[in-house]
Amino acid sequence: MDTALAIDATGLCKAYGTTHALAGLDLQVGHGEILGLLGPNGAGKTTTVRVLTTLLRPDHGSARVAGYDVQKDAGHVRRVIGLTGQYAALDECLTGRANLVMVGQLGRLTLRQARQRATELLHQFDLSDAADRGVKTYSGGMRRRLDLAASLVTRPQVLFLDEPSTGLDPRSRLVTWDAVRSLAADGTTVLLTTQHLDEADQLADRIAVVDHGTVIAEGTAAQLKAKIGGERVMLTVAAGSDLSGAVRVMARHADGKPVADASSRVVQVPVSSAARRLPEIVRDLDAAGVLIDDMSIRHPSLDDVFLTLTGHASEAGAHYESEQ
Ligand SMILES: Nc1ncnc2c1ncn2[C@@H]1O[C@H](COP(=O)(O)OP(=O)(O)O)[C@@H](O)[C@H]1O
Ligand SMILES: [Mg+2]
Repeated sequence: MDTALAIDATGLCKAYGTTHALAGLDLQVGHGEILGLLGPNGAGKTTTVRVLTTLLRPDHGSARVAGYDVQKDAGHVRRVIGLTGQYAALDECLTGRANLVMVGQLGRLTLRQARQRATELLHQFDLSDAADRGVKTYSGGMRRRLDLAASLVTRPQVLFLDEPSTGLDPRSRLVTWDAVRSLAADGTTVLLTTQHLDEADQLADRIAVVDHGTVIAEGTAAQLKAKIGGERVMLTVAAGSDLSGAVRVMARHADGKPVADASSRVVQVPVSSAARRLPEIVRDLDAAGVLIDDMSIRHPSLDDVFLTLTGHASEAGAHYESEQ
């Protein structure tokens, strides 16, 4: 047992009929770390979370959370974790405050402690004004924030957030991100799943990219970006100016093959230390009589990483709910 790790999963497998939701997934997360489990719809993220939170038994493999085995020691695991899922478990008939107080009392806080914790969390999640209204009057974003607050009432050591900002409006998203950051700063370990590459980039110390039930790449956002190569110079050649002339000039500065698109007149070239080499490139283009409408340096995004690693684009889309 490696208690240096907050989450340690080895060889997790889970099949639903012929669908291998998990196909030998390994995952290690250190104490206080924010790990982003990044993958498209159907990659196996929720199944991973369900196994690690003791809600689902794996067919093969084992996992420990905070040192406890998720199968043999499920009770201990449940006592030290928090879970926020895509489906909130809130009581519609109660106020936001009453929901949190109830969760606190179920989690063995005294009424006084539970009330105090509820007030703190309502403030942190920007719900103070709505605290004494019934949850049925809450917008989707407010419900999700309350759900996250509920998972924090008893101060879990390890927090699981399954797509915390899917369906959230931008404001709720930022409140959620701030909360995750401050939790991690206080030493809570966070595993968050996301289809949003920008979310993983913003929040996670380390990212594990999952596809078809296995981790296909791991590292910091910067390491993943580095994997797919460095920067590119993109230039738009002016109408009437010589596109192939531009390609010839750029080829001299390129670390790879320039790609030109005749209809948009955009030429893309992999160039290392692009900013430093830009003046020289501009001089050479000028000397060759090539006129440029636009020129920029493009840094690789996590979207590029995903496409490179999986051969298909991420299906992440921004589906915002408006807040009433
Ligand atoms: N209860 C279930 N019954 C049958 N298939 C399931 C079930 N849960 C998940 N799956 C399948 O397992 C795969 C992984 O699902 P899931 O872990 O929910 O992925 P993600 O959360 O990354 O979108 C998908 O192909 C999904 O359709
Ligand atoms: Mg899911």
